[in-house]
Amino acid sequence: MQLMPISQYYSGMNLPSNVTIVEVGPRDGLQNEKQAISLEEKLELVHRLSQTGLKVIEAGSFVSPKWVPQMAASETLFQTMTRAPGIRYSALVPNQRGLDTAIACGVEEVALFAAATETFSKTNINCSIAESLQRFADLAKQAIDHGMRVRGYISCVLGCPYEGDVNPEIVTQLSQQLLDMGCYECSLGDTIGVGSAGSTEAMFEHLCANNVAVEKLAFHAHDTYGQALANILVALNFGVATIDASVAGLGGCPYAKGASGNVATEDVLYMLNGLGISHGANLEVVVECGNYISAVLNRPNQSRAANAITQKRSG
Ligand code: HMG
Ligand code: MG
Repeated sequence: MQLMPISQYYSGMNLPSNVTIVEVGPRDGLQNEKQAISLEEKLELVHRLSQTGLKVIEAGSFVSPKWVPQMAASETLFQTMTRAPGIRYSALVPNQRGLDTAIACGVEEVALFAAATETFSKTNINCSIAESLQRFADLAKQAIDHGMRVRGYISCVLGCPYEGDVNPEIVTQLSQQLLDMGCYECSLGDTIGVGSAGSTEAMFEHLCANNVAVEKLAFHAHDTYGQALANILVALNFGVATIDASVAGLGGCPYAKGASGNVATEDVLYMLNGLGISHGANLEVVVECGNYISAVLNRPNQSRAANAITQKRSG
């Protein structure tokens, strides 16, 4: 059978030719884990991810250990880990103390994280949206003055565990504000994975209609309802070329009840391969990495693609 070129299958679609994956496994993937994970195991995960061809790794967060105990070792992790050339290693920062720690550890990129609803903002970072933006503007300026790259996040863009539906207008306004304060990119998080292809399309339509620079947007999907890949395909079709994902589908936010894992990096890579979109990562090596951390956590790999590839290899 003669296969059609991919462009004919997807005629009318506006897919990017290259996508950057932001690997959030060591941070978003592990932050909600109740079991102890040693510093050595975290270092090994970051080391293995650094061998996969992935170019951006969110390795930890400098948040209060009272709020997120699993990230308490981030400072030591950043002080100890070997940074591979050509890879950006980033960390989440909620306040001045977090930024000071990032600067002291020589972190090159920080991520500030806002929320689309007041209740989530209060529950996650103990302040209102307006207070967070005021604080982030100051942190962004300081970080940029220190030569750091600054990324912005918005949580709950497609639904909130406390307030339900979210109006795309608030996402548009917040994205613009984060970009205006100097974030090179704003990652839109479906924190509890309730979005559908329809609601994802409505959000990006609103953003584009209001001239938010789509090349400065990233999409961050959780797979609670199994819709993450469909939603990512919608985002790609709007020209979004940065996708957050977590190896082995690890993840969840401790302040988002019901949030399951992030979309698995392996599943996203498999989809991108099928679309002929380049990403620079070696899927087979990422699968090994996901199997490693799943074994550490003593649980099955949550990636369907990883399991299929592993089974095929052993069969
Ligand atoms: P607070 O309680 O208002 O802060 O929390 P505080 O200033 O009163 O400090 C409380 C204690 O924490 C104090 O210790 C501080 O020193 C300490 P004590 O004096 O009681 O011993 N503390 C810190 N320690 C280390 N590093 C720091 C730090 N700051 C304070 N940076 C705060 C406010 C923002 C600190 C807190 O709410 C917090 O840490 N929140 C972070 C929550 C979090 O990490 N959530 C998960 C990440 S967001 C996410 O997953 C969503 C995302 O993936 C997108 C998506 O999925 O859609 C990004
Ligand atoms: Mg997340």
